[in-house]
Amino acid sequence: MNTQIFRVADVSADADKIEAAAALLRAGEVVAVPTETVYGLAANALDPDAVKKIFIAKGRPQDNPLIVHLASPDEIGTVAEEIPERTYALLRRFSPGPLTVILKKRSRIPDAVSAGLDTVAVRVPSHPVANAIIRAAGVPLAAPSANLSGFPSPTCVQDVEDDMTGRVAAIVDGGDCACGIESTVVTLAADPPRLLRPGVITAEQLREFLPDLVIDDAVLHPLAEGQAAASPGMKYKHYSPKAQLYIVRGDRQAFFDYIRRNETADALLVFEEDAPLCEKPFVTLGRTKEPLTQTARLFTALRELDRIGAKTVFAREPSKEGVGLGVCNRLFRAAGFRFLNGPPKLIGVCGQTGAGKSTVCAYLKKLGAEIIDTDRIAREVVSPGSPVLPALAEAFGGDILLPDGTLDRKTLAARAFSSPDAAERLSAITHPAICEIALGRAEAAVAAGKNAVIDAPLLFTAGLDAHCAVTVKVTAPENVRLARILARDGISEAEAKKRMAAQAAEDALSDRADCILKNFPPYGIEEQITAFCII
Ligand code: TXA
Ligand code: MG
Repeated sequence: MNTQIFRVADVSADADKIEAAAALLRAGEVVAVPTETVYGLAANALDPDAVKKIFIAKGRPQDNPLIVHLASPDEIGTVAEEIPERTYALLRRFSPGPLTVILKKRSRIPDAVSAGLDTVAVRVPSHPVANAIIRAAGVPLAAPSANLSGFPSPTCVQDVEDDMTGRVAAIVDGGDCACGIESTVVTLAADPPRLLRPGVITAEQLREFLPDLVIDDAVLHPLAEGQAAASPGMKYKHYSPKAQLYIVRGDRQAFFDYIRRNETADALLVFEEDAPLCEKPFVTLGRTKEPLTQTARLFTALRELDRIGAKTVFAREPSKEGVGLGVCNRLFRAAGFRFLNGPPKLIGVCGQTGAGKSTVCAYLKKLGAEIIDTDRIAREVVSPGSPVLPALAEAFGGDILLPDGTLDRKTLAARAFSSPDAAERLSAITHPAICEIALGRAEAAVAAGKNAVIDAPLLFTAGLDAHCAVTVKVTAPENVRLARILARDGISEAEAKKRMAAQAAEDALSDRADCILKNFPPYGIEEQITAFCII
């Protein structure tokens, strides 16, 4: 399709271009138009065939409804009915402007627009070009943001041309969008009214008119599996750059401390004031305390990250206050709700011998975690003076202790491994002692503000998993593990295989770990640890 470009600098001087765009819309074509929020992809809302072309141009799922754009708030009754009284005061204050209200729909709104819902989203843009085009078209215009589905919304004409050239009849250039994020969406078809999407018009401003307004859970959180979305758009991955984006929690100091400990990012998304501290390529989002520059910059910044070829990006966490809620809503979605550097926690790491637990733990240590090695604690609990020794002597005979009070490991091993029963008695004495010490150290580390990692071959068998915020199983194929053990321990192949077989019970249990890390080529441990947000 040949896409015409109309550059409109002034609505009256360029009236012919406005009329040309309106004529295409009346003829059932799709035209990208500027609004004060983001560019929209418009079509005649009363023509289902025209509306279908929007979904095709965007690659948008059919069950995601569109906003209907009107030239004046006075026309609201032409598309909606059963309008609650207080809607009018709200519209008098904020419309025209970046506010969308959801109301019971009139039957003339086709299902293609409302995606089969009995409600319609309505908005009156304040952008003079959008307003002139709607007036000239003489019909309400259905318009989603003019990006390819899933990508950041376009806030300048170049973004629209990048996504839509060849897919729509025309693009109207009306300059950069002032708000930079989409309109605030509030449903008045629900009681109490509910904020579905935060924008430049804030929840606090809306509460002057809607004191009982509630903020939908999906504004800042991913939907739980099976949870229905109040607004279908919230269930889709959104605003995503191609780069993998992660939000690093905490203030500036916490962010840069984290970056120093974790080298995996190849670019940063930061505030203006952070720029002098950045030692990697970075893109800025405006100043920390200026959410309106952040909204204006946000989608451009996300697209810029792709332009510089960033693969893994760590972003500062914006404030959630006022307009900041809208910034966080978009940024958290763009990051797929992946957060790093949360409050310190206990991480359990297990895996069969040779799987490479130590490599994983060494990397976690590099990221600032305290590693608690249960093999080492197992040796500590049988050192002279430990209360475990008398208990062992009672269970297995006084002669397991040498005259100097140290443990005669050979004798103990001979007795403890003589039968499954005896082995169990040994575990029943040593495991609780090992767990108690490991958990005590972990708690102390967490209390001191560090992540704690319990490295435990028997994490699940010993029940330590129940104490961990995250459990990690490190895996590698059998032949890889065998080769590693032979190279590391210098034992015979038969002996190595015997050790591997002895771990079968734990291996089965640990399949329920939260994260399974593949520690063998071509997989990289560092990316997986970042991707799983383990730390
Ligand atoms: O600023 C904006 O609102 C821009 C400009 C172009 O006007 N438009 C825009 O449209 O952002 P779109 O389609 O990208 O986002 C509309 C959101 C979606 O999340 C959709 O699910 C929701 O509004 N929505 C539309 N109709 C709805 C309805 N009847 N009930 C609940 N949510 C609805
Ligand atoms: Mg959109």
